[in-house]
Amino acid sequence: MALSAIKYSRGKLDILDQLLLPTQSEYISVKNSEDGWNVIKKMQVRGAPAIAIVGCLSLAVELTDNGEHNTVGDLSPFICDRLQYLVTARPTAVNMSEASKRLSSLVKDMAVEPGQTVDDLRERFIKECEDMLVKDIAVNKNIGKYGADHLLAMSKNKAVKVLTHCNTGSLATAGYGTALGVVRALHERGKMSQAYCTETRPYNQGSRLTAYELVHEKIPATLICDSMAAILLEQHDISAIVVGADRVVANGDTANKIGTYQLALVAKHHNVPFYVACPSTTFDPTLTSGKEIKIEERASEEMTRVKGVQVAALGINCWNPAFDITPASLITGGIITEFGVFSTGDLKARLADCLKTEN
Ligand code: MRU
Repeated sequence: MALSAIKYSRGKLDILDQLLLPTQSEYISVKNSEDGWNVIKKMQVRGAPAIAIVGCLSLAVELTDNGEHNTVGDLSPFICDRLQYLVTARPTAVNMSEASKRLSSLVKDMAVEPGQTVDDLRERFIKECEDMLVKDIAVNKNIGKYGADHLLAMSKNKAVKVLTHCNTGSLATAGYGTALGVVRALHERGKMSQAYCTETRPYNQGSRLTAYELVHEKIPATLICDSMAAILLEQHDISAIVVGADRVVANGDTANKIGTYQLALVAKHHNVPFYVACPSTTFDPTLTSGKEIKIEERASEEMTRVKGVQVAALGINCWNPAFDITPASLITGGIITEFGVFSTGDLKARLADCLKTEN
């Protein structure tokens, strides 16, 4: 059975507490946008698509059977304000901010339509949030398909070995995953010879979450420490590195989990193609280069303590950026999206075409 990080039915949202994995599986009830903000901030739910879906659904739950807003003029600014608040929980991933802009403009447009009722507005907003859950899985399956097609075309249909970083699977999305969706699709076709995942210090999304998903899905897999990537590429005939993304900007520069940039550098040195897999909602054409992306810095305790146990010298200074920027020039394989695999140089134009055709 597939892992489910997000359990939702109208008026009820529960999320798997990812701080407790892999040893405990406990769901937390998210009753409103305040709870949504807190579970995102504490990283009880994480991963760019999951952050946006949980953020929006937390507000949908808050509005279900809620008679507090009597007029459209009351409800519309309330929704926009709460969406903007949810964006502030974590700054680097663009998906929540993209959802906030899209939904805010929808409710503002609806609010000025003649004869619009507060119940219709509330219902439409809730439905849009619910659709995100369904759409994300379909999008991820397409990412998996295009990524697997592409990698197998490159390998002339021979089974491949793929290294991935952080967690981009069912736990980071509504299901199936992005970069891990590509691994999953290759496995479904019997072409995943060996998946490698990094530990992903300091939060250990790789060893705690990706390894958990790989074991759960019975995909042949090996865990490495982050510091072992260079020797892995030197000795183990890796076919490709595939990672996820938190924000891809107009020129293809990509923000992703800290450690992604050094993997791309190692890949370049060893002539291993480097891919980013992400939905089109992770693309941010409003920024021209990666230098403009705000990088979240997190508490030093994530580095100095593991499950409450001090593992670093007391008193040491720490620097804990949660993400880094991989320059487009190092994304040598391309960007795997739900519409196909594009080079970083073509991404902006190709996505604009695909999105125009879709609408
Ligand atoms: O800090 P996190 O765990 O939210 O970071 C997650 C990542 O960097 C993922 O690679 C990215 O969000 C893509 S998830 C499909």
